Amino acid sequence: MQDHDSDDSRETEEGVTASGGETDVDDLPLPPGPDGYPLLGSSHQVVRRPLDFYDTLAEHGDVVRYSAFGQPFTTVLHPDYVEQVLLSEHGSFEKWLGEEFTDDHFAPEGLVFTSGEHWQRQRTIVQEMFTIDRIQTFADVMGEYADDLVDSWADGETVALNRAFPELTLRILVHTLLDVDLDGVNQDVIREGVDVVNEQANPRNLSALVPEWVPTPFNRRYRRALSDLRGFVDDLVARRRRALEQGGEVPDDLLSVLVTAEDDEGRTLSETEIRDQMLTFLGAGTETTALALTYTFLELAKHTASRPVWNSSTSSITRRPSSTRRCGCTRPPT
Ligand code: HEM
Repeated sequence: MQDHDSDDSRETEEGVTASGGETDVDDLPLPPGPDGYPLLGSSHQVVRRPLDFYDTLAEHGDVVRYSAFGQPFTTVLHPDYVEQVLLSEHGSFEKWLGEEFTDDHFAPEGLVFTSGEHWQRQRTIVQEMFTIDRIQTFADVMGEYADDLVDSWADGETVALNRAFPELTLRILVHTLLDVDLDGVNQDVIREGVDVVNEQANPRNLSALVPEWVPTPFNRRYRRALSDLRGFVDDLVARRRRALEQGGEVPDDLLSVLVTAEDDEGRTLSETEIRDQMLTFLGAGTETTALALTYTFLELAKHTASRPVWNSSTSSITRRPSSTRRCGCTRPPT
């Protein structure tokens, strides 16, 4: 959660007001937190070892303040406060959009960057795609692609899973949500677009912190890749729209849901909203799931009872002839 200076004079339950009233918020003590270095704050720790840094915050209390990249941040660590922020008093908090770091989000009209009513309307539409029945139909595709991946490995081959899983999750995502087979399209446009979006979101990528108007190599690459990906998605949307207008058969995927969606008042999503929603899913759904898979396998490797034949130092898995084809794991002989 990022702090916002605000002249809001709303009264809270405690009778605290931002201007006048019983207590001025400016007079309240700030939560404790690591001192960090002058100017830098805790930036270096966030960049070098972000997870370790977040682990150390608990030493300072349940609500901790720190600064990084020239911005003040507050982290809530106690479940009661998390509930307060996300649930019981969510109206008092706003989504931080990181405007200080970028003036061109990869998908400003997509779910991640919209808020309030705008977000609610989009969320209701998109929710349709994630009913339990639909999710169950995704499972077949996931199984098929996982089988294909395992089949592509030679027996005894050492495979870098942290490279194999992003490819797997991207294939599954573009198939289930957009009915696109990665082999049948310009893969580089999708891969490079998804890569730059993920790199830009990574706090460890210092070049992503340079304002976008500065023509750094990363910024130029980001702009070019994003523009190509936007073009690809626009084309996909236009083709689906044409197919729908011509009454042709179309897949029952996220793209169809978005193109045909209407809210209670009969309003449809704009072209930009549809495109940004697709970009959001491409950006949000591949690296996250790939990392979850990679770390799951790492944990499996650490626990001998269910351990695949594994070399954790290189994030790789060695497949044995007796492997179970569906999951690509082998149990060591007992
Ligand atoms: C293990 C895998 C995943 C993890 C850990 C994860 C984590 C998260 C988190 C923490 C958020 C909240 C971000 C915020 O509000 O600041 C989020 C939002 C979101 N995620 Fe995921 N995610 C995963 C998989 C996916 C997949 C597979 C998709 C797409 C198919 C997806 C699409 C989204 C979208 C669209 C949002 C924005 C939702 C909204 O604001 O209404 N995520 N995810």
